Amino acid sequence: MFVVTSGVLLGHTISKEGLLLNPVKVEAITQMQQLEKMVEEGKVRNIGVSNFSSKKLSGILDYAKIVPAVNQVECQPMWRQDKLRTFMKTHNITVCAYSPLGTWGTAGITVNLLEQPVLKIFSEKIGKTPAQESLRWGIQMGNSVLQKSTRPERVKENFDVFNFALSKDDMAEIEKLEQVYKSRFPL
Ligand SMILES: NC(=O)c1ccc[n+]([C@@H]2O[C@H](COP(=O)([O-])OP(=O)(O)OC[C@H]3O[C@@H](n4cnc5c(N)ncnc54)[C@H](OP(=O)(O)O)[C@@H]3O)[C@@H](O)[C@H]2O)c1
Repeated sequence: MFVVTSGVLLGHTISKEGLLLNPVKVEAITQMQQLEKMVEEGKVRNIGVSNFSSKKLSGILDYAKIVPAVNQVECQPMWRQDKLRTFMKTHNITVCAYSPLGTWGTAGITVNLLEQPVLKIFSEKIGKTPAQESLRWGIQMGNSVLQKSTRPERVKENFDVFNFALSKDDMAEIEKLEQVYKSRFPL
């Protein structure tokens, strides 16, 4: 079990008297301390955060006694979050990837990830769909992948991703996809 704290801005402000104020940071730290207490009490096993940029994570890590186990952020082949993932890897924080299918049709999203030719490789090669290839990509990137569908047949399809693997070459091809998305929830 984990608890997700909300992403908050971690910035310093200076008061008129020249004092360093950071009320928002205090809020995040307070949340972390409460969660850490719950871990100590055995009520929570791990702490997770969501929509934290490297800067926000770094702010938390300055104070946290317990490093968050996961950071839940948008991550898919056209929005890989390279910088954030590298930072998280050095701190052993897992990417929990939401919107792994690109959320085509959502306001502001103008490119359909699932229509990208490279994601059709498996449809042609071994009968997997672009959605399955995209989910598999996330798994092989080491992400914990969250998918969602209101259609039972798609839920089934989305779980049917553990009986094949993308080769190194396939992963490299997918890596060539342009990074065109913006997080729907600013980090
Ligand atoms: N922490 C956060 O800030 C945050 C933000 C966003 C989302 N989330 C969570 O992350 C999870 C997934 O996020 P999401 O809904 O944005 O992303 P998603 O799973 O990438 O996309 C869901 C959309 O893709 C469609 N879809 C699902 N399976 C498909 C398939 N096999 N082929 C084609 N289309 C398919 C769904 O339509 P149908 O329903 O019609 O199948 C739905 O429109 C949710 O549980 C959500 O609560 C968290």
